[in-house]
Amino acid sequence: MKGIILSGGSGTRLSPLTKVTSKQLLPVYNKPMIMYPLETLLKAGIKDILIIVAPDHAGDYLNLLGSGKEFGARFAYEVQDKPEGLAQAFLIGENFIEQDSVCMILGDNIFEDDFSEIIKNFKSGAHIFAKQVPDPERFGVVKFDEKGTALQIEEKPKQFLSDYAITGLYIYDSRVTEAAKSVKPSLRGELEITELHNWYLKKGELKVDMVKGEWIDAGTFESLYRAGELARKKTK
Ligand code: G1P
Repeated sequence: MKGIILSGGSGTRLSPLTKVTSKQLLPVYNKPMIMYPLETLLKAGIKDILIIVAPDHAGDYLNLLGSGKEFGARFAYEVQDKPEGLAQAFLIGENFIEQDSVCMILGDNIFEDDFSEIIKNFKSGAHIFAKQVPDPERFGVVKFDEKGTALQIEEKPKQFLSDYAITGLYIYDSRVTEAAKSVKPSLRGELEITELHNWYLKKGELKVDMVKGEWIDAGTFESLYRAGELARKKTK
């Protein structure tokens, strides 16, 4: 299993904090934000990690994380020139992924859960994770039937669909690059990750589990503040 941390985007929702640095390098209590998703991958036993960054502060990631040796891992870096969507990570990362499965985590997502068992046992298809939230319109959303099978997935639905947000940790088999090549840009000009989920859903190969512990997408002032509080609570 390979790992990808997607740390692109311009973080405009956190301006002016993001005028001088990248969102995923902002402090969350006692370390830069990206170190939390990195720890999630390392804890799950993933040792080959591609870090995809936006061009503006690319060098700062190298200064912070280096070769990976310090973490007992190997890091590779790629630049996402424009924020053209999460699914683009699998086009940028095609040569890195090769014929392996891949676990992608977003550089602004902070999880309490340990995904090691799930990652060890992953065989094929796609496996994603949902969490009930009060503000589903901010996220990709999944609707389940009464048996808990995923029926429908939509990116930031305007009409209420369900309050289960799809979190920013995704596990796919190596076909994900093929799936990513079939995705067309959405109205907001992005290759949406939701399209990849639908690609697997149509084949009956999408598994959706619940995140058990806390999960925070630290992309807004409010959630960034909560992320700091959660991290502080965990370190005390
Ligand atoms: C992205 C995804 C969305 C997902 C969210 C999780 O949204 O597009 O499906 O629910 O991450 O953090 P973004 O943060 O890019 O708006």
